[in-house]
Amino acid sequence: MKRLLTGDRPTGALHLGHYVGSLQNRVRLQERYECYFLIADLHTLTTRPRRSDIDAIGDHTRQMILDYLACGIDPARSTIYLQSAVPEIFELNLILQMLVTVPRLQRLPSLKEMRDAAGLKEMSLGLLGYPVLQSADILLPRASVVPVGKDNEAHIELARYIAKQFNTLYADVFPLPEAVIGDVPTLVGTDGAHKMSKSLDNAIMLSDDPATVKRRVMGMYTDPKRIRADVPGRVEGNPVFIYHTLFNDNQDEVEELAVRYRQGKVGDVEVKKKLATALNRMLAPLQARRAHFAAQKDYVDRVLYEGTLKMRTVAQETMQQVQVALGLARHWEHIVRNVPQS
Ligand code: TRP
Repeated sequence: MKRLLTGDRPTGALHLGHYVGSLQNRVRLQERYECYFLIADLHTLTTRPRRSDIDAIGDHTRQMILDYLACGIDPARSTIYLQSAVPEIFELNLILQMLVTVPRLQRLPSLKEMRDAAGLKEMSLGLLGYPVLQSADILLPRASVVPVGKDNEAHIELARYIAKQFNTLYADVFPLPEAVIGDVPTLVGTDGAHKMSKSLDNAIMLSDDPATVKRRVMGMYTDPKRIRADVPGRVEGNPVFIYHTLFNDNQDEVEELAVRYRQGKVGDVEVKKKLATALNRMLAPLQARRAHFAAQKDYVDRVLYEGTLKMRTVAQETMQQVQVALGLARHWEHIVRNVPQS
């Protein structure tokens, strides 16, 4: 089986946008690939290097893994690991840094966006190297397939370029990784204005209880021109109907609501109540699984521990090949052999 790698910065519990944008897809891809899912805590440091940011990583990681497991990512077949606990990532990162120029990195719009979003005037060397570190993540398990969002496409392209450089300069060690861009566009938030994001307070979390889900749905933005229930409403682009289409398992109900909505024969309250019910119906089994895993003491830590050990073994195999190709470690090994052992 070919290998697949993808990862997330540990930002804590995940929301519906993560679910349709990547988690659902990952669960399916487990069938076809040997999967590696990394918790990219080192990438967090590129914009948030403060001690308080670092202290939050442990809890954020556990919450995120609980959501992975709740969605059906299966640690018996997929490897979930902590980036900073795999020393070979640091090592490969430095070697790959030699294979890409600074202007090429400076041209990436994604890095400037991250700089601005973090409110930084200038970019650290670490942030400039973000996609090189990401390339190290991808190449270390010699992954062929990398499912990511559109915003990461250029980074995978760079990983491919770096792999090609390495293979040409030294030896054919790395498969050329390919991005797989999910077909679900970014999910709009409950405000109808921005992409769903916990920090914008427009998100419905996978772990939100039924009352919270209902409250968030009832406060959702809909068609602003619709001041009364008897005014015909717009279904297209309406976030309430976008969610209905994506998450309601009763699409006959959705169809029927859409028809009445366009005719001005159903109120927003009814449409929203039915959405809240549908969402809670969808989230219930997920949350039951989440609670089941959360109740087992240290289960999440054990998943991460075993995944990280597994990844370290894979990492050592790759670094062995990298060292042979590069021929750099030979010099030190020669010295060790020649010095009389005391
Ligand atoms: N850059 C990804 C993000 O936007 C996280 C990430 C880090 C990643 N390393 C990766 C994704 C390797 C795919 C492959 O959060």
